[in-house]
Amino acid sequence: MVDVRNVRGGDGIAAISDEVDEILDSVFKSTEAATEQFFVNYDKDPDPKILAGWLQPRCWRELDYVFLLNEQIRRYGLSFERKHITLLAKQSFQEAEHYEIVGTAIESLGGVVPTSVPVEAVPWSEFLWDCLERHPLAAIAAWNCSETSASGSFAPTFRAGERHGFTDVVRIYKQIERDEKFHVGLGRQILSAYAKTDEDRAEILRAMRGMRDIAWKTFTPESVAKSMMVA
Ligand SMILES: [Fe+2]
Ligand SMILES: [Fe+2]
Repeated sequence: MVDVRNVRGGDGIAAISDEVDEILDSVFKSTEAATEQFFVNYDKDPDPKILAGWLQPRCWRELDYVFLLNEQIRRYGLSFERKHITLLAKQSFQEAEHYEIVGTAIESLGGVVPTSVPVEAVPWSEFLWDCLERHPLAAIAAWNCSETSASGSFAPTFRAGERHGFTDVVRIYKQIERDEKFHVGLGRQILSAYAKTDEDRAEILRAMRGMRDIAWKTFTPESVAKSMMVA
């Protein structure tokens, strides 16, 4: 696998790279463990509607990324090189595809595709929009942490999908896994290229730490139980 941490694009986060890596490693592991636990519970009661409920906040996150990326480009894009506008727009297009295909997976499981923010995704969404207001790199840092977190869910999801015969879900998440490597690498490249001051680095760390405490909670059995209660 390509190590996205060895990206070109400047050394703007070199001074904080140990802490950044520690945050990313810990959020990856938290999500991996939460996903494993979700599927341990799921194995006892394999109801496709529960899996659909688990996919709902993930589906919303895809669409919220489209909104966030487009606003990021509108608001801050001209302070970036043109190629980074193009690459952020490419990411936005792929997130829209993810919303579409995860939506299809939800429907194939008998669930409903979210068209507004599900209650368990509210803290995640609010935090990202707050970051976008605060600083040109903060939302990118927060979603880089969140996307790294989501990557921790892939391997347990594939194992469970194969166990239960959810071939569509596995196929869809294999595509998403490929795209996410690009997204995570792009985020790192932009942070490295445009972080210049200690204030920039402090905002990046604040955003990543905040997201570390939020992102993995989407993948727990508790978050699904909560969503089923309000459904
Ligand atoms: Fe995505
Ligand atoms: Fe992504």
